[in-house]
Amino acid sequence: MSAGKQGDTLCFFINGKKVTEDDADPETMLLSFLREKLRLTGTKSGCGGGGCGACTVMVSRYQPATKTFTHYSANACLLPLCQLHGAAVTTVEGIGSTKTTIHPVQERIAKAHGSQCGFCTPGMVMSMYALLRNKPQPTMEDVTQALAGNLCRCTGYRPIVDGCRTFCQEANCCQANGDANCCRNGDGNPEKPEEEKPRLFEKEEFLPLDPTQELIFPPELILMAETANPETLTFYGERTTWVSPTSLEELVQLKAKHPKAPLVMGNTNIGPDIKFKGVLHPLIISPSRVKELFEVSETPQGVWVGAGCSLSEVRSLLEKLVPQFPEEKTELLRSLNQQLGNLGNQQIRNVASLGGNIVSAYPNSDLNPVLAAGNCKVSVISRGRREVPLNQDFFMGFGKTILNPEEIVVSVFIPFTRKGEFVRAFRQAPRKEASFATVSTGMRVFFSEGSRVVQDVSLYYGGMGPTTVSAAKTCTAIVAKPWDDETLSKAYDIILDELVLPPSAPGGKVEFRRSLTLSLLFKFHLEVLQKLRDTNVIKDEVPEKIWPLPREIQPSLQEFQAVSKDQSAQDPVGRPIMHRSAVGHATGEAVYCDDIPKTDGELFLGLVTSSRAHAKITAVDVSQALQLPGVVDVVTAHDIPGMKFRPMSGQEEELMAETEVSCIGQIICAVVADSRAHAKRGVAAVKISYEDLPDPVFTIEEAIEKSSYYEPRRSIERGNVTEAFEKVDQIYEGEMRMGGQEHFYMETQSMLVVPVGEEMEFDVYVSTQSPSAIQEAVAETLGISSNRVTCHVKRIGGAFGGKVTKTSHLVSITSVAALKTNRAVRCVLERGDDMLITGGRHPVMARYKVGFMNDGRIVAADMEYFTNAGNTIDESVLVVEKMLVHMDNVYNIPNLRGRGAACRTNLPSNTAFRGFGVPQGLLMVENMVNDVAAVLGRPADEIREINMYRGPSVTHYKLEFSPENFLRCWDECKLKCDYSARRKAVDQFNQQSRWKKRGMSIIPIKYGVAFAESFLNQAAALVHIYKDGSVLVTHGGTEMGQGIHTKMQQVASRELHIPTWKIYISETSTNTVPNTCPSAASFGTDANGMAVKNACEILYQRLEPVRKKNPNGTWENSETVSSVFLCVLRGEDLYMDWEKMEGRPGAYFTFGVSCSEVELNCLTGDYRTLRTDIMVDIGRSVNPSVDIGQIEGAFMQGLGLYTLEELKFSPSGLLYTRGPSQYKIPAVCDVPLRFNVYLLPDSDNPHAIYSSKGIGEPVVFLGSSVFFAIKDAVAAARSDSGLVGPFTFSSPATPERACLACNSQFTQKIPTSKPGSFKPWALNI
Ligand SMILES: Cc1cc2nc3c(=O)[nH]c(=O)nc-3n(C[C@H](O)[C@H](O)[C@H](O)COP(=O)(O)OP(=O)(O)OC[C@H]3O[C@@H](n4cnc5c(N)ncnc54)[C@H](O)[C@@H]3O)c2cc1C
Ligand code: FES
Ligand code: FES
Repeated sequence: MSAGKQGDTLCFFINGKKVTEDDADPETMLLSFLREKLRLTGTKSGCGGGGCGACTVMVSRYQPATKTFTHYSANACLLPLCQLHGAAVTTVEGIGSTKTTIHPVQERIAKAHGSQCGFCTPGMVMSMYALLRNKPQPTMEDVTQALAGNLCRCTGYRPIVDGCRTFCQEANCCQANGDANCCRNGDGNPEKPEEEKPRLFEKEEFLPLDPTQELIFPPELILMAETANPETLTFYGERTTWVSPTSLEELVQLKAKHPKAPLVMGNTNIGPDIKFKGVLHPLIISPSRVKELFEVSETPQGVWVGAGCSLSEVRSLLEKLVPQFPEEKTELLRSLNQQLGNLGNQQIRNVASLGGNIVSAYPNSDLNPVLAAGNCKVSVISRGRREVPLNQDFFMGFGKTILNPEEIVVSVFIPFTRKGEFVRAFRQAPRKEASFATVSTGMRVFFSEGSRVVQDVSLYYGGMGPTTVSAAKTCTAIVAKPWDDETLSKAYDIILDELVLPPSAPGGKVEFRRSLTLSLLFKFHLEVLQKLRDTNVIKDEVPEKIWPLPREIQPSLQEFQAVSKDQSAQDPVGRPIMHRSAVGHATGEAVYCDDIPKTDGELFLGLVTSSRAHAKITAVDVSQALQLPGVVDVVTAHDIPGMKFRPMSGQEEELMAETEVSCIGQIICAVVADSRAHAKRGVAAVKISYEDLPDPVFTIEEAIEKSSYYEPRRSIERGNVTEAFEKVDQIYEGEMRMGGQEHFYMETQSMLVVPVGEEMEFDVYVSTQSPSAIQEAVAETLGISSNRVTCHVKRIGGAFGGKVTKTSHLVSITSVAALKTNRAVRCVLERGDDMLITGGRHPVMARYKVGFMNDGRIVAADMEYFTNAGNTIDESVLVVEKMLVHMDNVYNIPNLRGRGAACRTNLPSNTAFRGFGVPQGLLMVENMVNDVAAVLGRPADEIREINMYRGPSVTHYKLEFSPENFLRCWDECKLKCDYSARRKAVDQFNQQSRWKKRGMSIIPIKYGVAFAESFLNQAAALVHIYKDGSVLVTHGGTEMGQGIHTKMQQVASRELHIPTWKIYISETSTNTVPNTCPSAASFGTDANGMAVKNACEILYQRLEPVRKKNPNGTWENSETVSSVFLCVLRGEDLYMDWEKMEGRPGAYFTFGVSCSEVELNCLTGDYRTLRTDIMVDIGRSVNPSVDIGQIEGAFMQGLGLYTLEELKFSPSGLLYTRGPSQYKIPAVCDVPLRFNVYLLPDSDNPHAIYSSKGIGEPVVFLGSSVFFAIKDAVAAARSDSGLVGPFTFSSPATPERACLACNSQFTQKIPTSKPGSFKPWALNI
């Protein structure tokens, strides 16, 4: 409607430079403007919906009224460009760079090892930078709040927090200096004096923070704000017009004329709707320059707050007001403030407006229940003004209020409370922070003076229906009654009848949500009793005060061995060298696939996927798509000149479905267009017609019933299990489920295929762990030979197993588009598509039978595993094999049988994921051991110890090994974490506490490193020594955050006897090092390290004559002998013979033990990991900082897997959880409050480079120590309800599961719906 009209000129500043835009498009967000137009690619895109923080920038504004500046962090992905008129934006490039100087924030995060893949790092830097601009000496609470909305999938956050901690005033003990053995821990190595202990970083080297050196606010903008006579601004885009009025009067007129046009303030509701639901608004009204919407005024009854104020501004206001009034007047203000602190994240609160939150009327809004309970009201204006109370009549339905479309909320009235009036706000959310609530509440009660008789009460809930609801009947039953147990226990019964959710209610968790209505009311009850007691109204003893869970992240310990005193100072091996790209990550200069500049005529590819789980394709109509602006072509399977499928495990996987689809999300065709936006619109316009096929299979049970398996199914046995069961004292049978996991690499699947222009040559730039697999896939798809395809991988923004097979499918399709159009084609999946299409970790169901003696010895175990593999085989059979190979873990069970099957279902195909089945398989084994302990009524760690391998041992696949280092890990870990004393303390705590329980567990792992196929363990390296003495190393490993390039640099430095800075690694490419194996299986350093070492050794020897001739010469003039060497290294002979049930599937074992302690709130299921200690045997670490980073990161990924991350599918097989708003990976709030890591000293490994060991995958499983600690706490709660012995507890141990398993008086009240009598909202796959 608006294209072609001349709008106003948008004017703002970025990094101190003026930007003027004559054609600002209202649909353009700052993120794409920065990345695509200005080529400021430091700001990353991780989700596009405000949920990951990768795109964080700082926005500064000048307030002419107060002559002050505000600086705040914001998500560029939701920030409309048009909203920025008059603002100054600072991006990561604006605060420092390697070309000038780097900023202290950038330096400290980098040097504290706070970046691995680096994709999240610019966002982290900017969140911290914005905090420091406002508060140069923050508290730790400020730091964790500032970082709460920034996700990192690699590091586990501990190093980021430690780097940022150095800005805090309290950070003055030795730990904050990066010291491995902190005075606060008290359990460091007492023999060594402080100065001898190795540190991960030296705080003394850090640049000081000098706030006077920051960019100044542009004077031109101050002038603009002060002198300009503001005029209405209008911007016209391709489809949308943006109007920004300057007066309330004009705003009212505009809204009256265009009642359907949204008022965009923070854009945190409207933005995601446009982006993810495809909503189109022809007109957007931006009231952000209407000053009445930002005014605050006090009255004797309360305070009027402008509806345009951001939630952060409201928070600051409340914090300012509270101390000014007597406590009794500020009950509501304090509750609101507390709820605001938990709402969204800092970036969201900085832009989201109070009015926007109210009018958005989210079903689980945090504010609305409190505002309603607190008798707040809004002042609205259209042609007249009126005041409307925020009560049950205000909220009419999902996203609907009583307001007329043309009405504008000008301000919100928040009343003061009276004497005898108490207000509380509670919430429970899937993740402690940065997460929408499952249930939120606002509760208020008013007593006659000096009495416990209720005069008035309001109970409002979010999350219990399509909108905020009032428990009015319950309130009526409470009024005029004394506030005591009797009244409240009646209230629970009434509320149960009043707030009913149908069993298939959207959002699921029906029983949990209903039980929360009770338990949160109980919490209110306790707090009110306490208040009545504090004010001397009652004398009763209050049963228990439920303190909030602890939250401050303490300094922690990272213990590793120093290099020997004899090692040359130049030799970097064994030292905690910073990731070689860390500074580039922190400055945003590190280049990822989508940061590569656009080539001339480049096109963008979008994927059309199936919306049916099992159906025939009857028609594909692309005609409408082809007519859309910018759409160039549609690519289907008919366009593929070569192989139309990818071969996997002996089966063929179609690249694009032609006749039939077997899951929602299967790729059918692809649209290529001149921009991302046009490709996306093109995709939406393709019409596919289907004819549903009967009986899709979704769950493991359905697959078992229909014998829907991929072959071969595997089994392994040692001893005679059947016979052994006859001789044991006791037998226990159990079943356990475990959910899948999304890789959630921060950089989504990204690729760029460039036709070189002659002889069918293609350059492929791609984010993959396996360049050779990509080269092969492209060549086979296009029907050309591999020598025409060069695959380049500079770095990967996280992969975790998800960027091998799935990437080769995607890049094959992209290459077909490049061939067909003869233009460069880029494909970067949006987060939602990535999650929908590419699968993840396999969900598993296991049944087990275990036979044991009364003394705790396990004599026989029979395990049956079923994985949900999805609609194609991918690597699913290999995953099952790895599960079976590891099923003995550290236990010598003489009669052991394992059977495994990969189930074929109509869900997106699952694939490799860090640990490759081991994290699933071992959870079941350890659960079985726990069950044995529970049956025998003995501590689980004792049963573990009784059954461990000891002395020379043989695995169930007949491999001899020594468990000595494992046993050392176990003993050392117990010692370091003070296991016995803490166990006693936990039990004591539990005896004294009814509603909070602590739990503790210690979990071991033995992990076989390398691929079970010899050909996959080969590696090669190419080393160039140039005439100036600089060295270029290329090897087969890809850098995905695991620090392989840093380690290879260390290896080359040692072997060539030169400093690391002379060595460069530019990329991994198939034209330098051919036929590489994937960077996976924790084997990258082992394989490639040996290749680099060999190549360097040979070159160094070649230079020997030169050195001899000129012993005093320098390296620079020594390599006159031509110095290029390619070394190809064959791996060890590894195999697994499934017929004979024997083999050597790994080169060696990495051992580890982890002990975790949690505190669980049994009323809500919320928990906090109080402490984790991890002891790992990784031989002699090549780089302790990198290896500790891998350990912490893998542990946190495991913690997410076992306690937090839940994939939800609809009954028709559609993945609901397609972004960080619905799928929660661990955030800063999930870091164990004390997180200690120790590397086992004096361990050697003859099988790998410099006696090191692979560490990428093993520690994921140790995250289950948190799962078992939660289970332990739940067991303590159950025993209070008289329940003892084993119980079924599935993974992940979400608050929902933990709360329901506690079996409290509240959960017991909730009626359960009969399975089969209703269609659940989500499948139990
Ligand atoms: C990642 C993320 C996390 C979040 N987490 C939470 C959470 O934990 N808890 C929670 O409660 N919320 C949460 N939210 C929701 C967020 O708080 C709301 O989206 C926000 O408050 C809406 O305000 P806004 O200014 O951004 O609204 P906009 O998107 O700009 O507008 C939203 C709607 O409000 C209308 N509107 C705005 N102002 C007015 C006005 N003055 N008068 C009349 N109508 C108006 C607009 O017309 C529009 O329809 C989250 C959002 C995101 C993106
Ligand atoms: S990309 Fe903006 S928050 Fe994720
Ligand atoms: S380093 Fe944080 S996502 Fe990779």
